[in-house]
Amino acid sequence: MDSSEAKEEIKKAADIVEVIGQYVELKKRGQNYVGLCPFHSERSPSFTVNQNKQIYHCFGCGKGGDVFTFWMEYHNLAFPQSLKDLAERYNIPLPQRRDLYADRKKTELKEQLFKINDLAGRYFHNILLRSADGKPGRDYFSRRHISQETISNFRLGYAVKRWDGLVNYLRSKNSALDRAAKAGLLVPKDNEEYYDRFRGRIIFPIFDLNHHNIGFGGRILDDSLPKYINTPETPIYHKGYYLYGLDSAYANIREKGLAIIVEGYLDMLVLRQHGISNVIATLGTALTSDQIRRLKGYTKDVVVLFDPDEAGRKAALKSFPLFLNEGISAKVVVLPQDEDPDSFVNKHGSDAFKKLLGRAASIFDFYLDQALANMDTGVDGQIRVLKEVLPVFINLDQGATRSLYVHRFAEKTGINEATVWEELRHHTNASQLKGRFSTVQDPRKYGSDLQFLNLLVYYPEKIDTFRDQEWGLIVSDPEINKIIEVIMEKFPSEGNLDRIEEFLDTPVAKEQFRVILMSKPFYSEESVSQAVSEFEKKITRVKVSQSIRKASAEGDMEMLNRLIREKQDLDSNSKNVTKPKHTNNS
Ligand code: UTP
Ligand code: MN
Repeated sequence: MDSSEAKEEIKKAADIVEVIGQYVELKKRGQNYVGLCPFHSERSPSFTVNQNKQIYHCFGCGKGGDVFTFWMEYHNLAFPQSLKDLAERYNIPLPQRRDLYADRKKTELKEQLFKINDLAGRYFHNILLRSADGKPGRDYFSRRHISQETISNFRLGYAVKRWDGLVNYLRSKNSALDRAAKAGLLVPKDNEEYYDRFRGRIIFPIFDLNHHNIGFGGRILDDSLPKYINTPETPIYHKGYYLYGLDSAYANIREKGLAIIVEGYLDMLVLRQHGISNVIATLGTALTSDQIRRLKGYTKDVVVLFDPDEAGRKAALKSFPLFLNEGISAKVVVLPQDEDPDSFVNKHGSDAFKKLLGRAASIFDFYLDQALANMDTGVDGQIRVLKEVLPVFINLDQGATRSLYVHRFAEKTGINEATVWEELRHHTNASQLKGRFSTVQDPRKYGSDLQFLNLLVYYPEKIDTFRDQEWGLIVSDPEINKIIEVIMEKFPSEGNLDRIEEFLDTPVAKEQFRVILMSKPFYSEESVSQAVSEFEKKITRVKVSQSIRKASAEGDMEMLNRLIREKQDLDSNSKNVTKPKHTNNS
């Protein structure tokens, strides 16, 4: 069988829904399956998989293709490797083929690293299980209440306290030591020799979703430092990308619709041992958006356990916009002082833990509570908290969501909401000022009223153009009408649009105005004058329509004909004009 035959064979054997479904939570919708796109940030599913045609397409980012395209894109692999992976998965024999030399080298290296990790993992595991040298490890695990079953399920191990334990073992197996060094297992010395990286430590092997052993964590048995060492970045290990235990948890996470994220290897293992199987751990780093994006294929609900201290507060704050921008609802469980999940569940059992889960607070409230508890009294404290939170607000994707959180923040901290907005506006402006509005937003998602308001806010020099025109004819929303009225009246005497909010008297108008202030400009420098003339034409068109109505009511046929011709001219002159959906409100 040649490789194109193999490809066809795989296409027949593979079900795209099953393959993609391992990584993305898919729901049946009509003919198709839909889910959240793994290739870009989104909150509502536009990623579509068609089972009959065996293709996928994302209506949000445009990525799409067949099962091979998905595999390449998702795992960041070249075609030959994808062919190989899928062939293996569906047990289809592949011909020996010649890949591009570089690809083949890369693939070979990765495979060698998997293999050497696997070998080392077995070595550590066997020492823990059987060797006399493994006793300190066995004692340690039993002190930590880790069962035999957990040790074997997670292939835990022990690295003896020697410089050449693994070195000697690999030599006896005729393994290339430089490969083991590339895998991060050995460290090179000056004289082309190597020594063991993991010494006198219990060992946690880390697996990817295809059950390859990609790296290790190792904990010291006493209080010496560093407490943990981990595999450094290698061609197969990236700590900000993988989650410990996801390979054995993803099915359960999907089933329960919830993922529990803890910080420690042992926390994860002990919770699993207590029957909580939808738990995973980060690998010694703050949560990354890569990790969150991986997770959202399985669930949109996440509970994170952060420590109730400054580090935990900062970690929560940092992850908050990541979750929000991925459309994941994240909650935080706070454990009693000086407990971590491991000690808590060993002491109080899994029911108590589940009770805590039920009381999880939203991540933002957790942050606020922590910030407040630690906030210095007085203005200094307020300023510090405000400084801490501003970048987070700026990073939120959506104006409306931001308003909500700004409101809550102001309410809880007692900082004047207007002050928060002022600061925010200040900071946002600073970053936008480079090349006035380097990014613009597509205005078509917004109504014509908001488009017009956006234009005035971002190009206040155009306010005069409209001041004496009947702009009210093209603004149908009474709240927006009010805002523009205030703008027309107070600008430029107030000098600054930021202060306009003070003159708005309804909360809805205030909110609308803020949403516009925080949204991006709709028009670029180049397109703004065209936008102005389109709004002007629109006003004229509404005026003509009004006159037409008047003329026809009065039976003035001559006038009517003239107006209708005028209107036709107007319509044919404007190709791109957003048609006024509303009539007028005068
Ligand atoms: P912790 O210090 O909370 O350890 O670090 P732990 O998991 O509770 O371990 P025990 O209970 O004291 O034995 C949490 C996680 O942070 C990473 C590890 O992944 C650890 O599990 N970490 C910690 C490191 O990578 N390096 C370190 O030096 C410390
Ligand atoms: Mn612990």
